[in-house]
Amino acid sequence: MSGGKTAIARANIALIKYWGKAPGNENLTAVPSLSLTLAALSTRTHVRFDPALDADRVQLGGALAEGRPRARVVSLLDALRARAGRTERAEVVSENDFPTASGLASSASGFAALALAASAALGLELSPAELSSQARAASASAARSVFGGYVELLAGARAAEPVAPPDFLDVAMVIALTTLGPKAIGSTEGMRHTEVTSPYYRAWVASAPSLFAEARRALLARDLETLGASMEQSTLMMHASMLAARPALVYLRDSTLRVMERVRALRSRGIAAFFTMDAGPHVKVLVERAAVSIVAAELGDVPGVERVLVSEPGAGAELVGDSPEA
Ligand code: PMV
Repeated sequence: MSGGKTAIARANIALIKYWGKAPGNENLTAVPSLSLTLAALSTRTHVRFDPALDADRVQLGGALAEGRPRARVVSLLDALRARAGRTERAEVVSENDFPTASGLASSASGFAALALAASAALGLELSPAELSSQARAASASAARSVFGGYVELLAGARAAEPVAPPDFLDVAMVIALTTLGPKAIGSTEGMRHTEVTSPYYRAWVASAPSLFAEARRALLARDLETLGASMEQSTLMMHASMLAARPALVYLRDSTLRVMERVRALRSRGIAAFFTMDAGPHVKVLVERAAVSIVAAELGDVPGVERVLVSEPGAGAELVGDSPEA
């Protein structure tokens, strides 16, 4: 029995979205994305390799994983075992410190933490770029959670790269959790469906690079207004491509639209606040730090908003000691 390793990684929210895969089966992205890693949404994962185990044992949020969630974990473990020339099976225990059932994506922080804990438990010393590449193969957005602050994942790239540190802008993220609808279609399936059936998909892929370049420039110039404008256009262009699919892929709810309206109303009062939505009904709002409590209170007041979370920008994935408790 070898000592295990524990890692923490934080979720990230794409300011400029990725939606769609590059050709081939390597889980490379069709468009460039730019994200912010969040301190308050973290996954803690413990991995221990044990020659006495005859199969990988994967516990996610207190329950034994089976089917596709387990298979995705095992395939990342297999890639790392192959790389280390090892064959022992592993015990994986992973917990999120944010509400998983809320529909907030947890695959980014989950696979980044798994890649780091499992590679360390195998004695592999992977560079951040190699870790990011391993995490990306499991979930493209996970490539970005290896790094803290503002992170880019270019179209077709194997690994994400850091762009600016967490404290580069004086901002925080306010997340409005809205009423959940019927179970959402997962991102991999949703992307494929959009690519195959939506006449707007090509337009989305064609316009994404210039929007990404504009946002990246605005970020580095600390121009929050332009960054915010490109951020809102990116999420709405992505959702437009989904809405034009057949049948339509509609992740946005009435409560989502009400939050967007409230964000626009806050802006008309001079508050710098900008929304983005992923493959779900929740709204994540990038807000100048001075206005965080006002925005959190206002969004909490919107009908259909069940809960508001506030997060500072966060650090990249890290090992947190060798205790067996995950
Ligand atoms: O990498 P996945 O399968 O978690 O897909 C992420 C897709 C979006 O969250 C909608 C956009 C993004 O860039 O994170």
